[in-house]
Amino acid sequence: MSAHYFNFALVTGASGGLGSSLVAEFLNDPAIDKVVAVSRSEKARVEYPANGIGDKLIWVKSDYSEAALDEVLSMLEPHAGKFSRVCICHGVLHSSTFWPEKRLEDISESALQAIFQANAVVPALWLKSLMKVLKGSNDCIVAALSARVGSIGDNHLGGWYAYRASKSALNMILKTAAIEYGRRAKNVKLIAFHPGTTDTELSKPFQAAVPKDKLFTSSFVAERLATIMDEAVVDGELSYLDWNGQAIDW
Ligand SMILES: NC(=O)c1ccc[n+]([C@@H]2O[C@H](COP(=O)([O-])OP(=O)(O)OC[C@H]3O[C@@H](n4cnc5c(N)ncnc54)[C@H](OP(=O)(O)O)[C@@H]3O)[C@@H](O)[C@H]2O)c1
Repeated sequence: MSAHYFNFALVTGASGGLGSSLVAEFLNDPAIDKVVAVSRSEKARVEYPANGIGDKLIWVKSDYSEAALDEVLSMLEPHAGKFSRVCICHGVLHSSTFWPEKRLEDISESALQAIFQANAVVPALWLKSLMKVLKGSNDCIVAALSARVGSIGDNHLGGWYAYRASKSALNMILKTAAIEYGRRAKNVKLIAFHPGTTDTELSKPFQAAVPKDKLFTSSFVAERLATIMDEAVVDGELSYLDWNGQAIDW
């Protein structure tokens, strides 16, 4: 990575539906010089414009262990202070071995651990690791993909224990980090972002009940988040916002 570029964006969990659309959004933004995309995948799963692949996009494979994040961070450190946009996109709701719980009897230790790992632990490790790279004199907006179902006040339906609780945990980690970033890296603003139901692998099994006009494309949501990040004010607070920029009850 050459050191002369000025404005960097970072997307972690970059090969997911929303992650890959956010990478595309930043590749298309002329104000951003380099897009660093971190993923468990060897390479991007979608085709980006040739100039994106060849020039602007840096794809980094990582398993998100603490040791692997240290390696990513040593690669980013020469560019400390240059990141203006960070999107943390990790999330798991279902897999071949677990499914969102309908009742208490469905709770499983292994599913809870896998979901908390992806949805709360990995984002927490990023917030820890990135402090020294994001701190600087330029504004930096960090959005972590949360979900409205992580709101305790908004929980009227029940169910989905692990996913809901992991997103509430993520929100608390973000809130606590916002306080610390506000002291130690005053140029950084944190956002917990709810994308709305978006057509990705994560939501696929649950889309039948969603009205067509309420099921968003990932490129629409990426554009909405980019606009919200453009308009964000660095105020030392965590904002919990939906795709429309509306605040969500905690
Ligand atoms: N789609 C929706 O309707 C919806 C609604 C509300 C909130 N969200 C949230 O939006 C975010 C993105 O989800 P998506 O809809 O784009 O889903 P997706 O297409 O399934 O993408 C999942 C993402 O999670 C990462 N990931 C998966 N397993 C992981 C693990 N074990 N450890 C660390 N990272 C892991 C993947 O990163 P790699 O690149 O490394 O594979 C990928 O970026 C999630 O936080 C999700 O909870 C989505």
